[in-house]
Amino acid sequence: MKSKTIGIMTTGGDCSGLNTAIHRLVRGAMIRGWRVIGIQDGTDGLCTTPPRIIKFDWDTLPTECARMAGSFLHNGHPGALNFETAATSGRLAHFNRRLKKSLRDLGLDALVLIGGNGSISLAWCNRDIYQDVQLICIPKTIDMDIPLTCRTIGFDTAVQQLTTFCDQLMLTARSHHRWFVVQTMGRDCGQLALHAGVAIGATAILIPEIKFDVNELVSHINKSHQDYGIILVSEGISLRGHSGRPADMISRKLTASGIINRTAYPEHTQRVGDTTANDRILATRMADCALNAIENNETYVMTAINDCECKTVSLSDFFDAGYVSADPNIPDVMTSDAFVAPDDSLLQIARNLGIYIGTEK
Ligand code: F6P
Repeated sequence: MKSKTIGIMTTGGDCSGLNTAIHRLVRGAMIRGWRVIGIQDGTDGLCTTPPRIIKFDWDTLPTECARMAGSFLHNGHPGALNFETAATSGRLAHFNRRLKKSLRDLGLDALVLIGGNGSISLAWCNRDIYQDVQLICIPKTIDMDIPLTCRTIGFDTAVQQLTTFCDQLMLTARSHHRWFVVQTMGRDCGQLALHAGVAIGATAILIPEIKFDVNELVSHINKSHQDYGIILVSEGISLRGHSGRPADMISRKLTASGIINRTAYPEHTQRVGDTTANDRILATRMADCALNAIENNETYVMTAINDCECKTVSLSDFFDAGYVSADPNIPDVMTSDAFVAPDDSLLQIARNLGIYIGTEK
């Protein structure tokens, strides 16, 4: 088989597991006798002359570093040129031409884009840019809001980080007979809060997909046979007539009802932490799947886990499978999202076991 040159790029927010994916891609490519180029700072690295790249060899990213969070290739810097900043500064046409030219100049046969639903949506909407390379996407995000796959790299580590954070808070909560309202990340998707909430045995989990009632929440807490515990609140929830951070809104409501509580914000600690074994295995499976797809001359595909199998799915299905909305910042670009489905079995299990979640919207 002809030797190939492949590029690897990480885009969007970082998460744990990116380095494992890069490491496994590099190893698998080297074994096949391929050349591997890492593109720095996402699309920004393709916009300078010359493009900012790393040529990987066996030692560039040592095995012991592959478990570390963040991206060895970086995800971008303040002021980085990406689809959004190019659109807002009126340079989109120039940016698109630039990406296409750099991919050609680098002599890439394939580009592995490790990104979230925004990056993958953008790649499909601007697919002309990738005409000259095989485009293989690997889904990563702590939000787990990517259509066509039931697992994304970084999610498991984020759930673990939140679990550890809440486990520790629970001890001080117990000591002071009071409650903690903890706000999770996740954008408009409640998967992260739902999974972490089940893991810690939260008293309530509030997520954007499910309608909740503050009076019901208060009465649930009062009947919970405990005077301490954790209310997990996803950052995407809203409360009619209230503004501010969701955890603050809920906290004020609880205080007004006589429930002593504090708020806590794990923030970006959810995106870091040593990559869990599950995320490492997932990243390894997805890297292997991506390399096989390159070998099979596939393009415009994404690696995905469904029914416990890791296989590629076509990006042409990405918009049919998700909830589509217009990108507010980039003309003619749509984004496809996945959410917690109303019949998600974990929702029902949580309810069965006494966790307040609210009622279907
Ligand atoms: O999409 C990943 C994510 O961590 C979200 O959960 C969160 O809302 C957002 O990114 C935070 O972005 P930033 O790092 O730009 O504050």
